[in-house]
Amino acid sequence: MRVVLIILAVLTATYAAKVVEISKEYQTSQKCKPCHMQIVKEWEHSWHSKSHYSKDEYFRATMEYVARKTRKSPNSVKVKCATCHNPRISVTSTNIEYEIKVLMKLDKGSKVNEAIDNKAISEGINCVVCHNIDKIYDDKDSSHRGMNRVSWTKSGTMVGPFDDAKSPYHKTEYRDFMDEKSEQLCFVCHANDKSSHGLVFTDMQSEYKKSDKNCVDCHMGPRISGAATTLRQENGEVKKRKIRTHGFSGAHMSDVLKNSLSLRLWHENSEIFIELENSLPHNVPSGFGSRELIIDITYKNATKEISKNSISLTRHYTRRGGKPTIAHLAKKASQDLSIPALDKKVLKVKKTPGAISVDVKVYYRLVNDEVRSILDLKDAIWSNKTLITSKNLKLN
Ligand code: HEC
Ligand code: HEC
Ligand code: HEC
Ligand code: HEC
Ligand code: HEC
Repeated sequence: MRVVLIILAVLTATYAAKVVEISKEYQTSQKCKPCHMQIVKEWEHSWHSKSHYSKDEYFRATMEYVARKTRKSPNSVKVKCATCHNPRISVTSTNIEYEIKVLMKLDKGSKVNEAIDNKAISEGINCVVCHNIDKIYDDKDSSHRGMNRVSWTKSGTMVGPFDDAKSPYHKTEYRDFMDEKSEQLCFVCHANDKSSHGLVFTDMQSEYKKSDKNCVDCHMGPRISGAATTLRQENGEVKKRKIRTHGFSGAHMSDVLKNSLSLRLWHENSEIFIELENSLPHNVPSGFGSRELIIDITYKNATKEISKNSISLTRHYTRRGGKPTIAHLAKKASQDLSIPALDKKVLKVKKTPGAISVDVKVYYRLVNDEVRSILDLKDAIWSNKTLITSKNLKLN
C-alpha cells in the first residue's frame, strides 16, 4: 500500500502542472508598453489576445455547450480549456468536491472561482505565457499540452531570442525555442486537442511537413532590421536588432488566406476538374475542427448564368447515436476533406448542357453551418465567406 501511495505521489508530482505566481509588475501587456509599445500593439490585434472566453464568442459558446452536455460546472470546463487558452491560471484542475460546492451554491470565494475571475488571466495568450516558458517537455506523451507541457521561469525573467539582451526592468535569458527551434513553442498548444471521448480532432503537429519555412517565418514575418525596445542605451541610441512582428495572422485575417491555395481548372469529355494546391506545410483548413472551404461553381452560356453548384469541404462530428455535435464532444468524425500540407486535391464535377464557361470561386469560412447553428453564433465573422481565389474556364 505504502509503495503504491509513494508511486502515486511521484506520478502526480511529475505530471501536475506547476503554478508560478506572476508578480503585478509583469502580469499584463500594459506593463511592457513603455519599452515595447510596437510589439504590444501588434499582439493586441492578434487572436492570441482574444483567447480568453470573454473575447471570443465561439470559444465561450463552445465552453458553455460542453458544460451543459457533460453536466459539469462551467468553471470546471473553463479550467480545463485554460490548459492551452489561459495557461497562467492559478488553479490547474477541479475535483468532485468543487462540483458539489457549485451544486450547493457554496463555491463563492473558492480558489477556483478566484482563479477564474482573476484579471491577470483576462489577456489570454499574452507576453508572460510565451516569454516565461522555462522548459518545454517534448519527452512527455503527446496528450500533454499547454501548461502540462512546460515549466515556468521565476516571475520577472523573460526568455527571448537574444543571448546578450539587458533590461533594467526584468532579467533576460536566451532559449532556442525562441530562436531556431520555435516550432517547439507553437506545438506546445497547436497540437493534439481532444474531445471528451478522447477523439483527437485537431493535430497540426502530425499533419505538418517540414519545409524551408518555420511557423514564425509566416505568422511573425521574416526577421527584419528594427529595435526590440524603444528604451535608449547609455550612449543615447536605440539598439538595432533583427526582429519579427507579433501579428500571428491566421484564418481570422482575410489578407493571409489569399496566400494559402492556388487553383487550376481543366475539362475532359463531360467533366470539369478543379485542382486545389496547398503551398503551406500544414493542412488548409487546419487547426480547429469546424472550419470550411466552399467551392462555388457557376455555369454560364453566352449571356448569363444557367446553373450553380456548391461543394463544402469540412468535417462533421457525431455523438452517440450518430447525432451531429461539436468537435469537443465528438465520438466520431467524418473523413478529413482538408487539402493536405504541401500537396493537392482534385475534385470532379459534371458539365451542364448548354454551358460554354464556368466561374469557380474558393472561399474560407471559420465555422460551418452545422456548428454555427448548434451553438447559435451571432457575430458575422463566423459565417462570412472570405474569397481565397477564383478562376474562369472556357468549355469549348
Ligand atoms: C505566442 C507566443 C508569443 C507571445 C504571446 C508573445 N511573444 Fe514575443 N516573441 C515570441 C517569439 C517566438 C519571438 C522570437 C521572434 C524571432 O524569431 O525573432 C519573440 C520575440 C520577442 C522580443 C524580441 C524582439 C523580436 O522581435 O525578436 C520581444 C522584446 C518580445 N517578443 C516581447 C513580447 C511582448 C511585450 C509580448 C506581449 C505583448 C510578446 N512578446 C508576446 C513569441 C511570443
Ligand atoms: C523599462 C523598460 C522595459 C520594460 C517596462 C519591459 N522591458 Fe523587456 N526589454 C527591455 C530592454 C532594454 C530589453 C533589451 C533589448 C535589446 O537588447 O535589444 C528588453 C528585452 C526583452 C525581451 C528579449 C529578451 C531576450 O533575451 O531575447 C523580452 C522577451 C522582453 N523584453 C519582454 C518584456 C515583457 C513581457 C515586458 C512586460 C511584462 C517587458 N519586457 C517590459 C526593456 C523593458
Ligand atoms: C500557450 C498556448 C499557445 C502557444 C504557445 C501558441 N499558440 Fe497560437 N493560439 C493559441 C490559441 C488558444 C489560439 C486561439 C485563440 C482564439 O481564437 O480564441 C491561437 C491562435 C493562433 C493563430 C490564429 C489562428 C487563426 O485562426 O486566425 C495563429 C496564426 C497562431 N496561434 C500561431 C502560433 C504560432 C506561430 C506559435 C508559435 C510561435 C503559437 N501560435 C504559439 C495558443 C497558443
Ligand atoms: C509558408 C507559410 C506558413 C507556415 C510555415 C505556417 N503557416 Fe500557419 N498559416 C499560413 C496561412 C497562409 C494560413 C491561412 C490559411 C489557413 O487558415 O489554412 C495559416 C493558418 C494557420 C492557422 C489557422 C488554421 C485554421 O485553418 O484554422 C494556424 C493555427 C496556424 N496557421 C499555425 C501555424 C503553426 C503552428 C505553424 C508551424 C507548425 C504554421 N502555421 C506554419 C501560413 C503558414
Ligand atoms: C491542447 C490545447 C487546447 C486545449 C486543451 C483547448 N484548446 Fe481550444 N484551441 C487551441 C488552439 C491552438 C486553437 C487555435 C486553432 C486555430 O485557430 O486553428 C484553439 C481554438 C479554439 C476555438 C476556435 C476559436 C476561434 O476563434 O475560431 C474554440 C471554439 C476552442 N478552441 C474551444 C475550446 C474549448 C471549449 C476548450 C475546452 C473544452 C478548448 N478549446 C481547449 C488549443 C486548445
